[in-house]
Amino acid sequence: MIIEVRDLWKDFGEGPVVRGLSFTVEAGEVHGLLGPNGAGKTTTVKCVVGLLRPDRGAIRVAGREVPDDWTYKELLGYLPENPSLPEYLTVGEFLLLMGRLKGLEPREARDRAEEVAALFGVEAHWERLIHDLSKGTRQRVAFAAAVINSPKILVLDEPFNGLDPEAQRVAKVLMRETAKAGGAVLVSTHLLDSVERLCDRATILSSGRAVASGTISEILRRAGLDEGSTLEEAFINIVRGSRGRTG
Ligand SMILES: Nc1ncnc2c1ncn2[C@@H]1O[C@H](COP(=O)(O)OP(=O)(O)OP(=O)(O)O)[C@@H](O)[C@H]1O
Ligand SMILES: [Mg+2]
Repeated sequence: MIIEVRDLWKDFGEGPVVRGLSFTVEAGEVHGLLGPNGAGKTTTVKCVVGLLRPDRGAIRVAGREVPDDWTYKELLGYLPENPSLPEYLTVGEFLLLMGRLKGLEPREARDRAEEVAALFGVEAHWERLIHDLSKGTRQRVAFAAAVINSPKILVLDEPFNGLDPEAQRVAKVLMRETAKAGGAVLVSTHLLDSVERLCDRATILSSGRAVASGTISEILRRAGLDEGSTLEEAFINIVRGSRGRTG
């Protein structure tokens, strides 16, 4: 397995917001992390990329202990929920800088920067300041920067935020290709109809616990629904049921 989260606990001082969460993402898999607002998805993602230290539990990425063995970072592309980009750089300068920061040689950094700019359709903005970009264009640039070193593992927190259908398609193809090449993708999102077609497996969080996990059909079954039902129906049934149990 490429990502392993085992018995993860995290508390910011007002009671645990992630409570004993376990799941794995295997090589070749796109894994959806679903759940209502405040369920703990972003907190979990930040633990997986080493931004937050778990209170308890173990996280392994490509066999390395997170966050202590930081060599996992070389393999990782991370798109945060609210990417903050340097306003005073142009798109081209920013992508080149990110390539260099990720350890690419100058020539390679330029080639890859041009490649990801073209992939995400921002090459026309190459010389524009990030300050002057629209919301979705910023998200495209942030996504392009996250994949500049062709990472084997993608961790994406609401990647479709602000993206138009065309850019969403680019993002989905990239996720499927990463998985197909033997990598792994962990993607948090609220777009359940995308998840149905994109993800091999998903984990639904509610109040910091996994309330369902598996393939889409397994999740439908867990919700007491048949194959013809939607993930949205399953999500609502499962989350309502879990709230009933926990009060
Ligand atoms: N730095 C922090 N300090 C205090 N509480 C925090 C912090 N970060 C998150 N929380 C709390 O942890 C809980 C889980 O938040 P998190 O951002 O992980 O949810 P989420 O599932 O990503 O929600 P959303 O769908 O809205 O993005 C929330 O109650 C939130 O208020
Ligand atoms: Mg979030």
